[in-house]
Amino acid sequence: MFKRFVFVALPLLAALSTLWSDLVVEAKFLTQKELHAKQAEAAARLKANLPRAAPHSNSGTGVKNITFTDPRASAFYVDGTTIPDVDWDVGPSWSGLLPISSDPNETRKLFFWFFPPGPQGSLDDLIFWTNGGPGCSSLEGLLQENGPFSWSWGQAHPTQNEFSWTNLSSILFVEQPVGTGFSQGTPDVMNEDQVAAEVVGFLQQFLDVFKELQGKKLYVTGESYAGMYVPYITNYIFEHPTALNLSMTGFWVSDPVLGWDVVQTQIPAVDFVHKYEGVFSFNQTFMAHLDSVAARCGYAGYFEKHVTYPPKGLLPLPGKSTEADPGCDVWDEIFNAALAVNPAFDIYRIFDTWPILWDVLGFPGSFPQVQTPIYFDREDVKKVIHAPVNVTWEECSDINVFPRGDHSLPPAFTVLPSVIEKSERAVIVHGLADFILIAEGTRIVIQNMTWNGQQGFQTPIQNDSFIVDGMGALGTTHTERGLTFFEVALSGHMIPQFSPKAAFQIMSFLMGFRQSP
Ligand SMILES: *[C@@H]1O[C@H](CO)[C@@H](O)[C@H](O)[C@H]1NC(C)=O
Ligand SMILES: *[C@@H]1O[C@H](CO)[C@@H](O)[C@H](O)[C@H]1NC(C)=O
Ligand SMILES: *[C@@H]1O[C@H](CO)[C@@H](O)[C@H](O)[C@H]1NC(C)=O
Ligand SMILES: *[C@@H]1O[C@H](CO)[C@@H](O)[C@H](O)[C@H]1NC(C)=O
Ligand SMILES: *[C@@H]1O[C@H](CO)[C@@H](O)[C@H](O)[C@H]1NC(C)=O
Ligand SMILES: *[C@@H]1O[C@H](CO)[C@@H](O)[C@H](O)[C@H]1NC(C)=O
Ligand SMILES: *[C@@H]1O[C@H](CO)[C@@H](O)[C@H](O)[C@H]1NC(C)=O
Ligand SMILES: *[C@@H]1O[C@H](CO)[C@@H](O)[C@H](O)[C@H]1NC(C)=O
Repeated sequence: MFKRFVFVALPLLAALSTLWSDLVVEAKFLTQKELHAKQAEAAARLKANLPRAAPHSNSGTGVKNITFTDPRASAFYVDGTTIPDVDWDVGPSWSGLLPISSDPNETRKLFFWFFPPGPQGSLDDLIFWTNGGPGCSSLEGLLQENGPFSWSWGQAHPTQNEFSWTNLSSILFVEQPVGTGFSQGTPDVMNEDQVAAEVVGFLQQFLDVFKELQGKKLYVTGESYAGMYVPYITNYIFEHPTALNLSMTGFWVSDPVLGWDVVQTQIPAVDFVHKYEGVFSFNQTFMAHLDSVAARCGYAGYFEKHVTYPPKGLLPLPGKSTEADPGCDVWDEIFNAALAVNPAFDIYRIFDTWPILWDVLGFPGSFPQVQTPIYFDREDVKKVIHAPVNVTWEECSDINVFPRGDHSLPPAFTVLPSVIEKSERAVIVHGLADFILIAEGTRIVIQNMTWNGQQGFQTPIQNDSFIVDGMGALGTTHTERGLTFFEVALSGHMIPQFSPKAAFQIMSFLMGFRQSP
């Protein structure tokens, strides 16, 4: 273990009057105790100013007592003292499989895990969370992002999640579409409307058993490929107002797929490398090569020219393709070069270096690393959460959950404007240390989209505008016409995992528990 020394050069006059041994430098010794004290102080500051989540909820200790009267509910009950390796009482929760329709012969079932609100949470709301992929399990979100207990990369054992969204309200994690995680059946969806219909079908079965959740305000949330799912699910619910006894109120998408690949990965890639030159540490020859590709492919200068506030018209593609023209896949070149100098390079969080961290879900970064046992693939875990023991659980499914592809257009070109218009609040969030989808690309998507009668943001996004309570400026935020955009500094792809306090504040804003972003 290294100890840290801070060398302080003495001012000349002071040096002259001291002993010869002190003449050149004086070593100020920072003990481990002092170092730990500094870190403890920082951790305490993180917890300070925790907003009271739901101003209208009654206070009290322990989890809110939601009692489900339907006798079928008890088959899903999870005793919070029995979750393997979790050594405190998480409180009551409910999990298991439910079909996606009321057809008695229905073979397709989705796996869910529902948590009622914690002591500070509101009883009036219901958060639906889905991960992306496609085919990645929402139990990742539960265990590593916004659930009540965390077992994240590099953690030796589970810890309580101080920033659990159960402090805001109820949350329902669903493994969807069919083919994801523990969910049962043969995948057959071809587009996002079919995905939405299956989710809504599942929610109907869920609300039939858990009737006490009917009438709640619904927030649909998710990240990454769920940038496709969330707007389409939200749209489906708005378009079928009697399908669910829930009040569709708002949505969250973070580090989302919303537009063309070329926009969200290629155009901003070389600028991104320049911004983080010290992190990538590419050699000068390669940097020059990247600059020449960016110039040849129409990526260089795209921002200065086209991303204006307000926009000057529809934003053009840099070339012919919505992915990358031949010889213009600069994102892939960057990824390969990054792996050459940093084999642990993580497209989801660019700051990671060797060694790759242990991950109980077996997906600690850019590439899966085989580690056993995988938490949700343990028989003891499966039994406690009423999961099928004969299914091999994987964080991201090997099976293609869209066997014939996803035929929906990215939502910015279809449903996204209308779901923003119909929601009370809507948030698009992007981590600034995410490389798999790049925040500046999301800016292009927004500037090219027309909602509530105007195209894009009319005034510029201000630096340092996102102020996290007790932390200070941590990126940017900008609100116009019902849409609030956030860029979170130091966060990779999974915002609630890497910047839980920021995520909690953003979610509090979305739900109306705080007035300012
Ligand atoms: C929850 O409510 C039910 C019925 O009102 C009651 O029997 C039970 O004791 C309550 N549990 C807790 C933990 O308060
Ligand atoms: C369910 O399947 C059985 C056997 O194939 C069939 O007889 C029955 O009509 C089906 N029920 C419905 C509601 O489709
Ligand atoms: C969440 O609830 C726990 C338990 O009451 C509390 O310790 C924690 O401070 C709360 N966190 C937030 C962000 O409100
Ligand atoms: C919807 O839920 C509310 C709140 O639980 C309930 O009072 C109402 O009867 C439900 N409506 C329908 C049509 O089931
Ligand atoms: C902007 O939107 C139009 C359609 O509204 C689309 O044709 C075009 O490809 C989009 N441009 C970018 C850069 O996404
Ligand atoms: C510079 O980086 C490129 C891309 O990784 C690599 O092909 C090349 O060998 C490197 N040159 C040196 C001198 O390291
Ligand atoms: C797992 O077991 C269930 C119930 O016995 C059965 O219906 C299902 O087909 C089995 N699945 C696999 C993948 O073997
Ligand atoms: C915002 O910050 C960026 C660098 O992060 C800088 O290039 C830009 O000039 C700043 N904008 C303003 C208005 O200060």
